[in-house]
Amino acid sequence: MSLTVYAPASMGNVGVGYDLLGAALAPIDGSLLGDKVSIAASTSGVQLKVEGHWADKLPPEPKENIVYQCALFFMEQLNKQDGVALTLEKNLPVGSGLGSSASSVVAALYALNEYFDRPYDKQALLRLMGEFEGKISGSVHYDNVAPCYLGGMQLMLDTQAKVCDSIPSFENWYWVVAYPGISLSTSKMRELLPDHYDKSVAIDFGRNLSAFVHASYQQDAELAISVLKDVMAEPYRASAIPGYELARDALDKLGMLSTGISGSGPTLFSVTDSLETAQAAQAWLDSNYVEQGLGFSHICKLDALGTRTID
Ligand code: HSE
Repeated sequence: MSLTVYAPASMGNVGVGYDLLGAALAPIDGSLLGDKVSIAASTSGVQLKVEGHWADKLPPEPKENIVYQCALFFMEQLNKQDGVALTLEKNLPVGSGLGSSASSVVAALYALNEYFDRPYDKQALLRLMGEFEGKISGSVHYDNVAPCYLGGMQLMLDTQAKVCDSIPSFENWYWVVAYPGISLSTSKMRELLPDHYDKSVAIDFGRNLSAFVHASYQQDAELAISVLKDVMAEPYRASAIPGYELARDALDKLGMLSTGISGSGPTLFSVTDSLETAQAAQAWLDSNYVEQGLGFSHICKLDALGTRTID
């Protein structure tokens, strides 16, 4: 038996929900923006081959790769003596804010779980994904692994019974994402945030997030856009992302409805309900925010499917 799994890119936070909201991305041109992991039998132990556009940014030693570590964990937990050969196709840049480590971890654990006849149920597998991704990003937060695995827009619940649940999204929104080409460490970007917040910020954060979730259920796009604001992270991270503030202002002038940092950056996202405006925003970002040859941009919808096996 052999199989290949695709795990989509994701936006942590989605601006308004620091560590609590995340969404999976699907470029509208039909391309796949995410890592792939293939698994097959091997003679013994764990073998890992890494390929793909962003492979050379990963540690050269396979044992240091998180995909290798996921496989080793599975084999040990299930007490498997036979071997597995994995191939990681690394299609997302590391430290991009597009859930690159989540994509590798989710694809690997999903593939291993399928290969070994699903020893983990959905919630247990998701918790495992969070733990492994946390080894790379420096802390466990599910806002990338959850949408990457399950698709759509996911709200973190983090109760004993349920890690997260999906909330409705706006079908006619376009999410323009632009990765400028530099890499930023998630743990360093997390350190930029203060340990304590003013009461007024805490209230604004709660109000914005709850109003956004409410608006999503009501399908009230105007309300959703008016509260799609990041009071928790953006004020402390914006200046650490070269060109971000300039881009946000320019996108606002182009008529984009809201712009924010995807995860911990440097990728930015910008929302509109007009394809024409999305295309104008993408053209501006390609000329002014994206380093040619190093970065990229996509006009996306949300990926409703999440992680899946592909041919
Ligand atoms: N919620 C996380 C953060 C996402 O903003 O640090 C990045 O992994």
